[in-house]
Amino acid sequence: MVSKPIPDHVPPEMVKDFSLFLSPDMQRTPNGDPHAAVACLHDGPPIFFSPNNTRDGRGTWVITRAEDQRRVLQDPETFSSHRSIFASALGENWPMIPLELDPPAHAVFRSLLNPLFSLERVMVLEPVVRERAVALIDRIFASSTSCDVMKDFAFPFAVSIFLCLLGLSDERLDIFVGWGKDLLHGDAVKRTAAARAIVQFIDELATLRRKDPAADFMTFVVEAEVDGRPLTGEEVRGIGVLLLVAGLDTVATAIGFDLAYLARNPKDQKLLRNEPTRIVPAAEELLRAYSTVQMIRVARKDIDFEGAPIRKGDYISCATAIANRDPAEFDHPDTIDLAREDNRHSAFACGPHRCLGSHLARREIVVGLEEWLARIPAFRIKEGTSPITYGGQVFGIENVILDWS
Ligand code: HEM
Repeated sequence: MVSKPIPDHVPPEMVKDFSLFLSPDMQRTPNGDPHAAVACLHDGPPIFFSPNNTRDGRGTWVITRAEDQRRVLQDPETFSSHRSIFASALGENWPMIPLELDPPAHAVFRSLLNPLFSLERVMVLEPVVRERAVALIDRIFASSTSCDVMKDFAFPFAVSIFLCLLGLSDERLDIFVGWGKDLLHGDAVKRTAAARAIVQFIDELATLRRKDPAADFMTFVVEAEVDGRPLTGEEVRGIGVLLLVAGLDTVATAIGFDLAYLARNPKDQKLLRNEPTRIVPAAEELLRAYSTVQMIRVARKDIDFEGAPIRKGDYISCATAIANRDPAEFDHPDTIDLAREDNRHSAFACGPHRCLGSHLARREIVVGLEEWLARIPAFRIKEGTSPITYGGQVFGIENVILDWS
């Protein structure tokens, strides 16, 4: 990946050779620990410039303190979310909605979608979530004493819930899992092909639901109105694509990191197995310690921020993996304490773009862990294998081969 030139206004002493994409442990590494790799940043300045910190090799300012990240994320007047990341990969220019909209348009779409992902709605969906988890885990247990949790459980589980939201059967599960993999780990050609396939799929589904409505998410979107008018085709696409992309890898990755942690820490595994009521706070601690999403904002004006001369158009990175290991915010941030109290982590962000799917994500993770621990005996990482981790826009874990023989 070729770095773009460092802009002239960035003082050389504020440039740091650290990248969420390229630093050691951020690249695809067996047994890597991208989360531990951010610890070095907390001894340094509150903000620095990383010359190559996006997928396309752009430099960004990096905010290292949780408190400063909150200032950025809660100030959309200064720090915009308007970027078209997904569309620009296709040479197009349309926003994922509501993620890439700023106020006041953001609030219009957010209030439209909020009721669909409320806690009450998620609790109605919970039996389906549990049924999917049980079916997948029972199948694994019946056929083997080992599996790759990502391939056999985490991805199919997260994708099947998404298909259920869209009102689709599991028939196309493998196709979706494949798109997800290509989008995240594929080379540029595979990534673009997967992005095109996803857009085509969402557009076709929207056309179908306009003609033939059903009791599902896409029908709701194509029939919805904002400001007294129906949504445009581009808006429908922006919402559909975001929901697919947002829920695809994040939940699967969280489950992967959680089970890898429990496989390596048999005492904690036993504790949760024997006392399942501890799973809810444990899942929060694991969301904190293994936070995955890096948020990027674009400066709308020149501003001096903690001594950094940010200029209009600069990119600002707020990585949840950095904020949630900030010692000013959490005692012993690198220690995983499954009973941690007052755990106000920002894995789901804060401010107007706070994760719309957080209730659903939390339920999927907790139900996934509950059913896994209830059905699979004491497990460990299979000898001779090592989970492959990577940093980036969304941190990930590629394979977690577990063994309970
Ligand atoms: C562990 C799982 C998840 C994590 C860690 C996560 C994290 C995040 C974060 C950090 C943001 C803010 C992004 C930004 O401001 O740039 C976000 C936004 C969003 N997430 Fe999630 N997410 C997860 C699961 C989900 C799921 C399952 C869905 C939906 C099915 C979802 C839907 C969304 C949407 C629609 C937004 C945009 C909200 C807005 O702009 O108002 N997420 N998520």
